[in-house]
Amino acid sequence: MSKARILVGVSGGSASGKTEIARAAARAVAPLSALVVAEDDYYGDHGASPDFDAARFNFDHPASRDHALLAKQLEALKKGKPVKAPVYDFTIHRRRADTRTIPAADVVLVEGIHLFCDDDVRALFDVRVYVDAPDDIRLARRLLRDVNERGRTPQSVIGQYLGTVRPMHHEWTHPNQRHAHIVIRNDAAAARPADHLEAFFDTLAKPLVAAILEKAGK
Ligand SMILES: Nc1ncnc2c1ncn2[C@@H]1O[C@H](COP(=O)(O)OP(=O)(O)OP(=O)(O)O)[C@@H](O)[C@H]1O
Ligand SMILES: [Mg+2]
Repeated sequence: MSKARILVGVSGGSASGKTEIARAAARAVAPLSALVVAEDDYYGDHGASPDFDAARFNFDHPASRDHALLAKQLEALKKGKPVKAPVYDFTIHRRRADTRTIPAADVVLVEGIHLFCDDDVRALFDVRVYVDAPDDIRLARRLLRDVNERGRTPQSVIGQYLGTVRPMHHEWTHPNQRHAHIVIRNDAAAARPADHLEAFFDTLAKPLVAAILEKAGK
């Protein structure tokens, strides 16, 4: 097996399909070992600050992330060293006292909306992928997901979308598409992940898997 440790950055707007595509690719690179790391675990410990106000805080700005810690831990993973990753508690906007060990793996896929905004983090990726989905489809997916799975009201999801998600996407996430080696279009015509895993893979994850295997010399 190749000794190359490959770091893959999967970015794109919220609800573009980053998590689904990263997981599908991780399954498909076997026998290489692969795991998926979420940039969301690297939010700063904002709730600890005395003047923190969750209603006003902009969680869609890249400054909300601890990219310095992410870069440090990705460098370690690239060298094949396990890391103690932070665990973020979304209910209180705090980093938890405990950590989660991320073991060494041949391929580490990192997925998040701000991965290509930070020069140091961006430079660490061997493969940069941008998942591109139209805004209306992303809003529809996010609305369904947050109402069905995260106990949110449609009013609050749409308010957040118009207030920060949409403007920050156009200011930060979308312009950084130019750094991607691969752009995957996940529009309404693409296969649905839950219903047709195989078709989802064929339509959306295949180019990413091919790029990883090429880097690995497979
Ligand atoms: N091709 C598709 N067809 C239908 N539904 C899809 C498709 N791709 C993704 N979805 C659904 O859209 C939602 C968002 O996908 P996913 O969680 O992978 O996005 P994400 O980019 O990781 O979002 P976030 O940045 O908010 O974490 C999920 O419910 C997922 O199952
Ligand atoms: Mg996700």
